[in-house]
Amino acid sequence: MKGYAKRIDSIQEYYFSAKLREVNQLIAEGKPVINLGIGSPDLAPADSVKTALKNAADQSQAHGYQSYQGIPELRTAMAAYYEQAFDVSLNPFQEILPLMGSKEGIMHVSLAFLNPGDEVLIPNPGYPTYRSVTELLECHPMDYNLLENGEPDWEEIESRDLSKVKIMWVNYPHMPTGARGSKEIFSKLIRFAEKHQILLVNDNPYSHILNPNPMSILHVTGGKDVAMELNSLSKTFNIPGWRVGMLCGKAEWISAVLKVKSNMDSGMFLGIQKGAVAALNLPKSWFDELNQQYENRRKLVWQLADSLELSYTKEQSGLFVWCKLPEGKSADELVNFLLYEKNIFITPGHIFGSKGVQHVRISLCMPEFKILEAIKRIKPIKS
Ligand SMILES: Cc1ncc(COP(=O)(O)O)c(C=O)c1O
Repeated sequence: MKGYAKRIDSIQEYYFSAKLREVNQLIAEGKPVINLGIGSPDLAPADSVKTALKNAADQSQAHGYQSYQGIPELRTAMAAYYEQAFDVSLNPFQEILPLMGSKEGIMHVSLAFLNPGDEVLIPNPGYPTYRSVTELLECHPMDYNLLENGEPDWEEIESRDLSKVKIMWVNYPHMPTGARGSKEIFSKLIRFAEKHQILLVNDNPYSHILNPNPMSILHVTGGKDVAMELNSLSKTFNIPGWRVGMLCGKAEWISAVLKVKSNMDSGMFLGIQKGAVAALNLPKSWFDELNQQYENRRKLVWQLADSLELSYTKEQSGLFVWCKLPEGKSADELVNFLLYEKNIFITPGHIFGSKGVQHVRISLCMPEFKILEAIKRIKPIKS
């Protein structure tokens, strides 16, 4: 055996892949760990969604390979969802590609557009997959900072040599900071992409979570000419394990990504597609009820953060509360103290980039009684 590919030297095992092994080991040893680290919705999918999945399993054609582009019914439901949620009209047969998870879509898009040596703008802090996929493809991530209001630091970006930049990843609502997109931010991004001939990709899995104004970059004037958008059913419909997402954008670009993707998988199980259709057809009350639960949980997480003397803003969207530590305090020390002394797991901000070092991220994916239990365990720290 002549050794590993050089590309794996550029990356590490995904933080949660390694850390959750440790957390699970602690649980196996009998430690009552409360996991406020990951954003895997614990709430149940709607009954109609589960029923559609189960019923599909009885159909004779359910168990064969499925279309590389998903069944027409799914693409049509995705188009209707985009129309209804974001006022964006998409041709279901040309401008939508169902994905087996939007995380996977980051790789598909990158494979379709990047050559080794290309540069890619990624937010710092930001979702770690933008960086690792870029590095796996022997391209170079170029970090950009976010201003207080969540928009990219334009002055800093424009001062760089952008000639080799091919893709810019943006993510509104932003994970981990919870910053929201706006028409102004999207318009500036679109003008920037036009000027520098860069493909913009907005990763939008948190569009409906604690976000008063769900938006798509494709809705903004000029958006469809320079941008694609990834979306996901994981967080919106409580089905992260099903692996359903979508890529939206102009037909030519979707075809390029399909060229890659159709060589990588052989379609999505029919039951998952039927369940996804049922999810996309849920009424608006689904989101209202979901957000009510997250709002209640978030109030408790704010209390937890207060007990730890962390600061945070209350206008964050998404499944987390992004918190800042007091000057001079180390996030790693806090995370380790909480895990090993209090059996509470939260995420250190540095895994999202150098700009996250003074922060921690606390997830809302735990029932209220567990968050209350975490608050109880922490209280004695202060007294
Ligand atoms: C910013 C961001 N993008 C993409 C994903 C991936 O979501 P999916 O479950 O659709 O792969 C996540 C999941 O945590 C995320 O936080």
